[in-house]
Amino acid sequence: MLEAGHTFLARLGKTRLRPGGIDATDWLVDKAHIEPDTKVLEVACNMGTTMIVLAKRYGCSATGLDLDERALDKARANIQKNHLGDKLHVVLGSAFDLPFEDQSFDIVINEAMLTMLSNRDKNRALVEYSRVLKPSGLLLTQDVCYRTDDVETQQELRTGLSRAINVSVEPLDCEGWKSRIEEHGFVTEQKSGDMTLLDPQGMVRDEGVDGALKVMLNAMKQENFEMFARMFHFFNDHKSDLGYVANFSRRAADAAGWLAG
Ligand SMILES: C[S@@+](CC[C@H](N)C(=O)[O-])C[C@H]1O[C@@H](n2cnc3c(N)ncnc32)[C@H](O)[C@@H]1O
Repeated sequence: MLEAGHTFLARLGKTRLRPGGIDATDWLVDKAHIEPDTKVLEVACNMGTTMIVLAKRYGCSATGLDLDERALDKARANIQKNHLGDKLHVVLGSAFDLPFEDQSFDIVINEAMLTMLSNRDKNRALVEYSRVLKPSGLLLTQDVCYRTDDVETQQELRTGLSRAINVSVEPLDCEGWKSRIEEHGFVTEQKSGDMTLLDPQGMVRDEGVDGALKVMLNAMKQENFEMFARMFHFFNDHKSDLGYVANFSRRAADAAGWLAG
C-alpha cells in the first residue's frame, strides 16, 4: 500500500501534520480559554503533539484518539518523555464511533482529519463530536480549504491533492466548512490563510530550525526525495487556490451568549 502523506512526513521527522500549522492551532486554543480542569478530547491525535502542548501550557488533562496504532505508540512514548503520564492518555478508536459517554468533554480538537473524509463521513464524525461535547462545548478544527469557487478547478485540486498525498481527500471552501459544521448544531468563527505545511517559513515555525533541518535532510535522501518533491511541488503550484481554514465552533445551545460576549 502507498504510504500516506502524513505518515511519510512523520517518518521524516515532522511533528505537526496540518495545513495551517502552529499558527492555526494557537489561534484556536487561545480563543478556547483552557483551564486546568477543562476536559479535552483530541481526535486524530497521531503522535500526541497538540495534546502535549495543551497539557504543558494550560495544565489540563486530555484524552487522545486515533485509528493508527503505530502513531499511538509514538504518542505514548512522547507523553512519557514529557512526564505527562498523569494528565494524558491515548486510545485506539475511530471518530465515527467514539468510546465516550454523551456530553463528557468541554473541548474536542480535531486537526487535519475531516479533509480526508468524504462528505458523508464528515457528517458521521461531526455527529459524534456534537454528542460527546457538553452543551457549551467547543469544537476546534483546522482543514484544507479551496480558495476558488470554480467547481471544475476544485475537482482538479481534489484529484491532484489526493494523488500528491496518497489519501483520498474532499476539501471544502470556507463557506462550505462553516455550513457543514453548523448543520450539526454549532456556531462557527473562522480564520484562514496560506497552507504552511511544507512552506520553508511554516516548517521553521512548526518544527524549529533544527527540526526543519532534520526533515529536509531526510527528504533529500534518495528513497524519500520523489515523494517529498511531489508533495512540495503540488502545494507550491496551487498555493493561490488551496489554503487552510481554522474553525472555532461552539455548540449552539450556548451560541447566543458567546456571540454577544
Ligand atoms: C494528517 S494527520 C493529522 C495528525 C494531527 N492531528 C496533526 O495535526 O498533526 C491525520 C490523522 O487522522 C487520523 N485519522 C484518520 N481517520 C481517522 C478516523 N476516522 N478516526 C480517528 N483518526 C483518524 C490518522 O490516523 C492521522 O493520525
